[in-house]
Amino acid sequence: MSGIRSVARGIGSYLPERVLTNAELAQRVETSDEWIVQRTGIRQRHIAAEGEFTSHLGLIAARRALADAGFAAADIDLIIVATSTPDQTFPATAATIQAELGITRGAAFDLQAVCSGFVFALATADAHLRTGAFERALVIGAETFSRILDWEDRGTCVLFGDGAGAMVLEAVQHDDAKGAGVLTTHLRSDGRHRAKLYVDGGPSSTGTVGHLRMEGREVFKHAVGMITDVITDAFAATGESAESIDWFVPHQANRRIIDASAQKLGIAPEKVVTTVDLHGNTSAASIPLALDVAWRDGRLQRGQMVLLEAMGGGFTWGSALLRW
Ligand code: ACO
Repeated sequence: MSGIRSVARGIGSYLPERVLTNAELAQRVETSDEWIVQRTGIRQRHIAAEGEFTSHLGLIAARRALADAGFAAADIDLIIVATSTPDQTFPATAATIQAELGITRGAAFDLQAVCSGFVFALATADAHLRTGAFERALVIGAETFSRILDWEDRGTCVLFGDGAGAMVLEAVQHDDAKGAGVLTTHLRSDGRHRAKLYVDGGPSSTGTVGHLRMEGREVFKHAVGMITDVITDAFAATGESAESIDWFVPHQANRRIIDASAQKLGIAPEKVVTTVDLHGNTSAASIPLALDVAWRDGRLQRGQMVLLEAMGGGFTWGSALLRW
């Protein structure tokens, strides 16, 4: 079927310099490297420096994605930043990144779907590109979750880290079912679960930023089922399968959730890209960060089938299938 397809042209990422190890965390709260590794697979995470904001992380990732694509900033006419930790309540972090890139045309806005943010932003950019309204998009996931953690709550502070990843998408006219691009996206939300993973502050309620709160066991209980549901939808929509995909690049929340999801879907362990050990959970940034790792180390090749999925606060969850 001919039409417009959104093709990934480049990917880039950035991690703050400072690495926080499990051993260091064990000096702050009652925990241990052994407990964290066994329950989550996380060994370390990166933490933004004082004065280093979400827009700074996102801007570096965006510049690296543009360089990878061989595009100039002026080629971009749509910027979507997925974040739950914006620099300010408003303007959008996307507007700040747009200005820093020197772009004065098109549109830039933030999108908030917590850990599912990158999949939601990718689906949104894809929909806009396919209308013909925009030509080239920067889809960025950027977070500084270290700023909303309660560093005395061992149940949450060990899980998250800071970072950013970005993807350049271009609208391409195609008449080839086997061509590159985003093939399908599936987004879901169920706000009845909103109290299981939330931040206890906000501009309209408390006038404060607040701290992340989570019923970890409840999140865990729902995660695998929700993830496998939207992936089953993606396979049904495209005729692809666990066998035909080349890479599974899930949101990096927890090694056990990733392994259980892959196993339930019948995805071979060697097809799973995992970075949670080194990055922790970077929320909306985790998928483009993991994609960039696989791209730069040569695992990910042009023409390959890539499956993305995420699940997070709301609850929100979603999948995307693309040919790289
Ligand atoms: N170190 C040591 N002990 C801890 C720690 C810690 N960091 N955190 C909790 N514990 C203790 C608890 O206090 C509890 O002790 P108790 O039995 O004396 O009360 C015990 O460990 C077990 O606690 P649980 O919360 O039941 O532990 P669980 O095995 O469920 O693991 C975890 C907790 C890792 C948070 C798990 O529930 C999980 O991964 N949930 C998913 C959460 C997640 O990934 N959220 C990310 C955001 S959503 C998303 O991105 C999908």
